[in-house]
Amino acid sequence: MIAKIKQLLEEVEAIKANTANELETLRIKYLSKKGVINDLMNEFRNVPSDQKREVGIMLNQLKTALQEKINKLREDLENNDNDVVDLDLTRTSYPVRLGTRHPLTIVKNEIIDIFGRLGFTIAEGPEIEDDWHVFSALNFAEDHPARDMQDTFFIESHPDILLRTHTSSVQTRVMGYSKPPIRIICPGRVFRNEAISYRAHCFFHQVEALYIDKNVSFTDLKQALLLFAKEMFGAETKIRLRPSYFPFTEPSAEMDISCNICGGKGCPFCKHTGWVEILGCGMVDPNVLESNGIDSKEYSGYALGMGVERIANLKYQVKDLRMFSENDTRFLKEFEAAH
Ligand code: DAH
Repeated sequence: MIAKIKQLLEEVEAIKANTANELETLRIKYLSKKGVINDLMNEFRNVPSDQKREVGIMLNQLKTALQEKINKLREDLENNDNDVVDLDLTRTSYPVRLGTRHPLTIVKNEIIDIFGRLGFTIAEGPEIEDDWHVFSALNFAEDHPARDMQDTFFIESHPDILLRTHTSSVQTRVMGYSKPPIRIICPGRVFRNEAISYRAHCFFHQVEALYIDKNVSFTDLKQALLLFAKEMFGAETKIRLRPSYFPFTEPSAEMDISCNICGGKGCPFCKHTGWVEILGCGMVDPNVLESNGIDSKEYSGYALGMGVERIANLKYQVKDLRMFSENDTRFLKEFEAAH
């Protein structure tokens, strides 16, 4: 038996395991109930008592050596995990998750598409503007309340420079560098000095449209508006124009559409009137044409402007305006299917 134990001690030195499975096989072979050590323990009972002490010590040595060796092999395997991973190069890769379009971008693109089909092309202007393009060239009186610090963000050191309060400023930019016919749509961000709440923000988005040509009439405006409303909100949508006032249009109107949430029957969203306001519009005031170098006897035009958040709210019923600028991906992902 002593010879057998000596031989096993040498064997232990040499054992190796390349995988967890091989290691487990070794453990079963040496240390399990039916393993080598247990067999030796059984044999030990028959060892003559004068040899028991010597054999017992050797047997314990062997057992400890085996346990230590197997633990050491296990540690080595765990540390080398990276080298031995089951790497399946034929498995299909994880799908790349693409970002989703922002709901305001979806709505803006839809507006651009509809007007694009009517022949409007995109024009852009700066967000940091001067008084002329935002107010003066658009026929705002010197003392108009919009020029008040309360409503408009001015650049402190330069009171002529401000953050545009509406995209109507792009009208004056385009009239400044091109001649009629002009047929443009201007999407963009605008800024107003408002306290931030669920229904107001200090920045939001607008889309402005301007059409100037010979013989443009209110009828053309009305047709364009009706087509836009039906394309945007569905063929059954009705429109209604209410007289209004804007410095840059005469006559001016505000357009309501039949509430697309209740279908015009009346609901909390339309305050039970069946109608919701969605944009301002009118015939370009001759003063504006003249201020921008266009002969108002030869040309006429219409203009309209709408808030993108408002349209998005009607389409998607977002209760809190702040959601649009917080970039919470749980909110943004809800629009995955919309584009
Ligand atoms: N600029 C207006 C606003 O910010 C919206 C608007 C009204 C634009 C009438 C227009 C218009 O072009 O004709 O409230």
